[in-house]
Amino acid sequence: MVSDIIAQFNELAESLLKAEKETPALSYRSPEELHNLIDLKINSEGFDENNLVQLLKTIAENTTKTSGHRFFNQLFGGRIDIAVVADMLASLLNISMYTYKVAGVHVLLEQEIVNKMCSFIGFEKGEGIFTPGGSLSNMIAMIMARNEADQSIKQTGIPVNKFIAYTSCQSHYSVTKNAGIVGIGRQNVRQITVDYSGKMRLDELEETIQNDIAAGLKPFFINATTGTTVLGAFDDVEKIADIAEKYGIWLHVDGAWGGSMILNEKYQHLFKGAERADSFTWDAHKMMGVPLIASTILTREKGMLKKHFSEPADYLFQADDDFLNPGTRSIQCGRRNDVLKVWAAWKCLGDEGYATRIDKLRSKALYLADKIYQDSELQLLCQPESLNVCFDVPEKSSQQICDYLDRNGIIKVGYGVFKGKSFIRAICVNPEMTESDLDFFVEQVKAAATILD
Ligand SMILES: Cc1ncc(COP(=O)(O)O)c(C=O)c1O
Repeated sequence: MVSDIIAQFNELAESLLKAEKETPALSYRSPEELHNLIDLKINSEGFDENNLVQLLKTIAENTTKTSGHRFFNQLFGGRIDIAVVADMLASLLNISMYTYKVAGVHVLLEQEIVNKMCSFIGFEKGEGIFTPGGSLSNMIAMIMARNEADQSIKQTGIPVNKFIAYTSCQSHYSVTKNAGIVGIGRQNVRQITVDYSGKMRLDELEETIQNDIAAGLKPFFINATTGTTVLGAFDDVEKIADIAEKYGIWLHVDGAWGGSMILNEKYQHLFKGAERADSFTWDAHKMMGVPLIASTILTREKGMLKKHFSEPADYLFQADDDFLNPGTRSIQCGRRNDVLKVWAAWKCLGDEGYATRIDKLRSKALYLADKIYQDSELQLLCQPESLNVCFDVPEKSSQQICDYLDRNGIIKVGYGVFKGKSFIRAICVNPEMTESDLDFFVEQVKAAATILD
């Protein structure tokens, strides 16, 4: 009964929100402790539903509080309430995003969001689709690039592979991983080195392409990253687009992390040239603050997705034009309704609200970076280009500091490595974080470093 669902959900949500306020970080528990604390086993007999709600409450209490003010670990965090409500509604509605017959108005919502994103990028005649994550969006781009480079592959498969992909050594690991999945081979991804700020070196990119062509190989895919995972650096898309155009190579922009910065005109210069790309990945579940997963793959040219991913299925596509049946453009059959939460958040905030959100996030990152820069006990690695604040405590192990903070339930934050140097990477993606939260973060890092002496 719906009233039961609401009562059960309210009970769980209230206890989680209370815990989030009172203990914003999560005390570490080992797998053994969790097994002892929570009856995880599925048995042959069922379990009483009321007791199960209590069990779910314990599970929620023992889950990392990514919307709490102690979470600096990954590229998402915080919560937009209306997006959460819309996502819960999506679960209640439980439609599948393949046909207009089933998904109806949600197909139109997806078109609205995709068109909106395309217009920000400058894909005037673009299109796109929601996917199960940025890694998958990147993979879809690689598949389209591969099939465009050799029109027979879709039908007959890859012959002896001569395809080569190019990406910076700071790009997301999905680029190399995807090459292993789609038959290119991981060894055929050229990891181009980066300059001191983490941007792909263009001289090396072009020279490597020329060498590969001279060796009889076939460059087919360049990945430019707008907002790298570790440093938050932006590749020079305009210059990379020149190279892609010169050699006739598919250009993909991985904006999974930094793509949302395009929502504020102050940062749009970082995307110059993106309108010339063939495809663009944009994750709304990162800076746009909606619940995971909300990723899109966008293409400059309409029809590209259908060209590479449509497959006849009389039992499914029975009514309406293909344009209204997104299943004809997707790598999936059943597809979750990820758009409703994005639409609700964007409708609520408007373009202006999102531009303000991006500014707010930037000001948090700059506050933290400045505080670290001013502190003689800490060393800022570089000025953040987006929301990644990278720094270390000289002579101290960043890994040990992060582990200590996690194991003691103080803060969740991760570490990264750049040009052989290890450092702490704090992500400022929750606009609700206050300056005192950021001050607390710095104090705790320093305290941990002292204890680890
Ligand atoms: C630059 C970049 N691309 C792609 C991804 C993958 O996105 P997802 O986690 O949605 O698969 C990430 C994730 O952090 C990323 O930082």
